Amino acid sequence: MKLGFIGTGTITTAVIEGLIKSKAKVQQFNISQRSKKNSSYLKRKSGKVTVYSKNQEIIDRSFIVFISLLPKQVKQELQKLQFKKGQIIVSFVSTLNIKSTKKLCTPATTIIKAAPLPMAVDGLSPTIIYPNHKVIKSLFEKIGTVVVAQNENQNNHFWVMSSFMATYASIVQTLKKYLLKNKVKHEDANKYLNTFLTGMLFELNHKKFDLDKCIKSLQTKGGINEELLKRLTKDKFFTKLQNNLNKIYLRLKKANDK
Ligand SMILES: NC(=O)c1ccc[n+]([C@@H]2O[C@H](COP(=O)([O-])OP(=O)(O)OC[C@H]3O[C@@H](n4cnc5c(N)ncnc54)[C@H](OP(=O)(O)O)[C@@H]3O)[C@@H](O)[C@H]2O)c1
Repeated sequence: MKLGFIGTGTITTAVIEGLIKSKAKVQQFNISQRSKKNSSYLKRKSGKVTVYSKNQEIIDRSFIVFISLLPKQVKQELQKLQFKKGQIIVSFVSTLNIKSTKKLCTPATTIIKAAPLPMAVDGLSPTIIYPNHKVIKSLFEKIGTVVVAQNENQNNHFWVMSSFMATYASIVQTLKKYLLKNKVKHEDANKYLNTFLTGMLFELNHKKFDLDKCIKSLQTKGGINEELLKRLTKDKFFTKLQNNLNKIYLRLKKANDK
């Protein structure tokens, strides 16, 4: 299988590094020079990586082409390129719907949208794909799990989840800042939070993600877990999060309806 990537940014780098580690049956990774730091890094990682300065060369040499440009760059760049009939196109671009991608990549007709996440580098990306495609699904399963959206609208809803990454890290940062402010050493704060977060995930898994059960069992009556949850609920922390997730969905829907 010869894979080509237009755009060697954060997500392409994580996906390729994850695939290299997973020993997936890939003959070639044809990648663009941009960004140079990432393409040089990947070239050093595997002899299967070839770097090209022209995107057309990548398309000409690849059976599956991954589009990994930013939304503002993608239309202009794709218009300049000539795709092949029978080629599989996988787009990582959240704001471009299947119909528009098909138009831009004509005569290729197999278009898949996919949202791998940076955790792909450790084989832990929950990748959303739409529509389903056997080869693409099994490829992403090498670097995590795959969730197949049932339609484009559901695809947008799953993409909303991927918008939570930086907020998640910011919540963890708030906990860490609290410890640092109170004279706890960096290493001890990291050590505590690392096992805390990993342990919490195991706890949720033990309860089979029955979150009502988890929330109940994690609170002692009159205890500090109960108090913090009550305080944040009263401050509308969760309502605000929910409302803002809806706003992200509306942004994705508006862009995809075009
Ligand atoms: N990051 C994520 O977690 C994530 C998850 C799912 C989907 N996505 C989507 O995946 C896409 C890429 O995201 P990213 O986070 O990887 O962004 P990124 O790190 O900014 O990568 C974009 C890359 O495209 C390169 N580029 C720009 N114009 C180019 C051109 N004409 N030809 C070749 N390369 C070009 C840029 O190189 P220069 O630096 O040289 O300009 C940069 O390396 C976006 O549409 C994003 O929404 C990202």
